[in-house]
Amino acid sequence: MKVLVIGGGGREHAIVRKLKENQRVTELYCLPGNGGIARDAVCVPIGATDLEGIVAFARERQIDYAVVTPDDPLALGAVDLLEAAGVPCFGPRKNAAVIEASKVFAKELMKRHGIPTARYESFDDMDAALAYLETAPMPAVVKADGLALGKGVLIAQTLPEAREAVRAMMADHRFGKSGERVVIEEFLEGPEISVLSFTDGKTIVPMISSMDHKRAGEGDTGLNTGGMGTVAPNPYYTPEVAKRCMEEIFLPTVRAMAAEGRPFKGCLYFGLMLTKEGPKVIEYNCRFGDPETQVVLPLLKSDLLSVMQAVTEGRLADCPVEFSRDAAACVIMASQGYPGSYQKGFPIHIPEDLDAELFVAGAKAQDDQLLTSGGRVLGVTAVRPTLPQALEAAYAAVRRVHFENAYYRRDIGKRALAAKEG
Ligand code: AMP
Ligand code: GLY
Repeated sequence: MKVLVIGGGGREHAIVRKLKENQRVTELYCLPGNGGIARDAVCVPIGATDLEGIVAFARERQIDYAVVTPDDPLALGAVDLLEAAGVPCFGPRKNAAVIEASKVFAKELMKRHGIPTARYESFDDMDAALAYLETAPMPAVVKADGLALGKGVLIAQTLPEAREAVRAMMADHRFGKSGERVVIEEFLEGPEISVLSFTDGKTIVPMISSMDHKRAGEGDTGLNTGGMGTVAPNPYYTPEVAKRCMEEIFLPTVRAMAAEGRPFKGCLYFGLMLTKEGPKVIEYNCRFGDPETQVVLPLLKSDLLSVMQAVTEGRLADCPVEFSRDAAACVIMASQGYPGSYQKGFPIHIPEDLDAELFVAGAKAQDDQLLTSGGRVLGVTAVRPTLPQALEAAYAAVRRVHFENAYYRRDIGKRALAAKEG
């Protein structure tokens, strides 16, 4: 079977590794992939949003199955186009990807169907947004409607900060067209939980829970990033919380999308906050999270390709999805300066006998040498029977990997460990 993965980060590397385990996969391609993924799949330099290029490639190589991973090709309708070309896909169609592509859509969906989330108002007129702020409770959260690489969320502590955030999005167009509409929402407090799920539009199977570390700095300080590390499972996701999430959030969301003629097939990601009133949705993503995938998939015992095909074919209810009872920790090694500007092109030295899985996010290959080429460079994942063991092993491996200007947080998992003890 010829399988194609669209995307080129650590998440895609984790997916490629898992797909490779299946003996039915005879050819595995990744567009565009990266220098590290190229060790596990054939990488072809066709960009993830070059939909014409992707469809032409799939036709020419007679691809049997495609996995579309990043948010932008999904929002642009990559799955619709590939399906029209006769290629079955894992991933939502455009009309379902909107659950991530428009925050206004997501909030209205939750309101229509009584799914717990932060209270909010949405605006496409700046004066109306500014007027609303005058009486809104602070802190307030100001979000650009569209995709903004995870950066379109500003938390304003005070009214002047909130005004500034609205102006930055709506007048200065700091997030381009994404900020033409904004959502202003109530500030929620509590631990965050990421739950990725498989859903075929009817059945939903949550994967093992995880905890992301979004801020660049230790102690959750500094700028928001794509994610600096993850652990799984998330200790706050107790069986009681899981049950509430299933009844109040997961099933209602899948049913709501189906009822509105937008059946969601693929990986639906729930960004949750465990508030005093119970779990609430912070955001939906229409795809695997990164670096969540780098701890979740190494714990998947079932065959990934079989599960994905069951999703595509609408037979998830009959497909076993099993996770290991171990724990996993992923530490992201980034370029110093990320998410701001950073230098790249440094050789990466990786010992042969590393006792961890290494997922490559931002590196290119030059001859046989990997060179840094992105903000997030590597994800170093260890799977062990307990979280402390997984963390120790991941950090032991990180200390043996070297490149100039490497930066990583030394406190990944600290909060999860404290939660377990508390
Ligand atoms: P998002 O891109 O929507 O996931 O938001 C990025 C981060 O902002 C989240 O992971 C939260 O830490 C924070 N955030 C978003 N919405 C809220 C909210 N309503 N209350 C508190 N924090 C929030
Ligand atoms: N790690 C969060 C995301 O993928 O959006």
